[in-house]
Amino acid sequence: MHDDRTDPTETVRPLLRARQVREFTDAPVDRAALDALADVGRWSGSSKNNQPWRFIVVTEPDTIRRLADSGMPYTRALQTATAAIAITVPDQPGWKISHAYDEGRAAERILVGASMLGLGAGIAWISGEGREAVGDILGLPDDRFVRTVVALGHPTEAARLPKSDSGEARLPRGETVFQERWPEG
Ligand SMILES: Cc1cc2nc3c(=O)[nH]c(=O)nc-3n(C[C@H](O)[C@H](O)[C@H](O)COP(=O)(O)O)c2cc1C
Repeated sequence: MHDDRTDPTETVRPLLRARQVREFTDAPVDRAALDALADVGRWSGSSKNNQPWRFIVVTEPDTIRRLADSGMPYTRALQTATAAIAITVPDQPGWKISHAYDEGRAAERILVGASMLGLGAGIAWISGEGREAVGDILGLPDDRFVRTVVALGHPTEAARLPKSDSGEARLPRGETVFQERWPEG
């Protein structure tokens, strides 16, 4: 028997709680929280410990809205975000998958960290066409680009509500997790 302190599911609850937030209040995010989240990103593991990322922490409202404009509708979380962390990676042929994997690990950790701090966070993907605009907005060198901007802020009441009916947000365990081998039939 497990109680709440020893129940493994309760221990990992902060991970289960980290969901995509797309709507934020006007309240700013503390600088200390932003520093902590940037540390969470830079402490992520990466292939060969390459640490391909450089993070740009943005709090200037005009810059955040311009980032939002560069990738709608995918960037809609940036329309109300009060802070953002742009994850830049090198544009290096041969390393695309590796860098994307590393970037995803960092992004996810920032989402989890934000949730643990009582903040909301959302991934905003910048697709091919928007990348040049984002590069200009953030003053990136030619050999770097941004695919993921993490929108940050304090979630609105509406954003805190479940987006789907109970039990509907994820496929059931029985359909997604198999034991020992692919199931028969
Ligand atoms: C690789 C990746 C890219 C994503 N891109 C976007 C995006 O561009 N815009 C957005 O609003 N959400 C984006 N999301 C968030 C997903 O839509 C979200 O994780 C999914 O709907 C589950 O949401 P939930 O965790 O709140 O249930 C992305 C998620 C991942 C993993």
